[in-house]
Amino acid sequence: MATTAADRPKTSRSRAASTRAGNDKPNEAKGSNSNAKSGSSRGGLGQPGLAVGAAAAGLVAGLAANFVRKAIVQAPSALAGQWDEALKAEHQAVRLIFDKIEKTDEHNTTKRATLLMQLKHALAKHAVEEENAVYACLRDHAQKTEADKLNHEHGYVKQYLYDLSMMDRRSPKWIAKLREFRSMVEDHMREEEESVFPQLRASLTEEENKQLTMAMNKEGLKVA
Ligand SMILES: [Fe+2]
Ligand SMILES: [Fe+2]
Repeated sequence: MATTAADRPKTSRSRAASTRAGNDKPNEAKGSNSNAKSGSSRGGLGQPGLAVGAAAAGLVAGLAANFVRKAIVQAPSALAGQWDEALKAEHQAVRLIFDKIEKTDEHNTTKRATLLMQLKHALAKHAVEEENAVYACLRDHAQKTEADKLNHEHGYVKQYLYDLSMMDRRSPKWIAKLREFRSMVEDHMREEEESVFPQLRASLTEEENKQLTMAMNKEGLKVA
């Protein structure tokens, strides 16, 4: 045991020493390599530096473009006013996508797929805004039952979206399922617009409503 304990530090020390020792020589070797490399870089006169600079500039431009894209996606909600007005505007956008889908027939499979993707994105962002901000606020203001019911329904929104994405878009069953889904979503949105949201807005102070609007937009921006 003592031997092992004594050996271990020795081994690691000797490993460290040999690494240091090894570092010297390989460094020389590396030095000659790196000299050779830097010599060739110098031949290219700062090309690696230019490449790093270009990559960094590309990254910054990419991040900026992504931020602008997110801001554009979130803008209609952010400009709609208070949190409940923004969510109503998003509900309306969802209804319009449903309208477009209902105008398709079984031959428009690509259009159905594209519109279903749009619906999925709109509902996913909307769900994050509601679940991460509005429903959480509801629970904090004596509307836990309502928040839990609405949250439960969001689970079935995802279920319908999954089922529709897996079904044959040429089948008459597809549009029937879509109509069933729309009916469920319409009931959910109506309950929010006509009952739950007005009650919450009235129970909050002006400052609390402002804070909820900011929190909701922040959540939307994250997933926009
Ligand atoms: Fe909802
Ligand atoms: Fe909603």
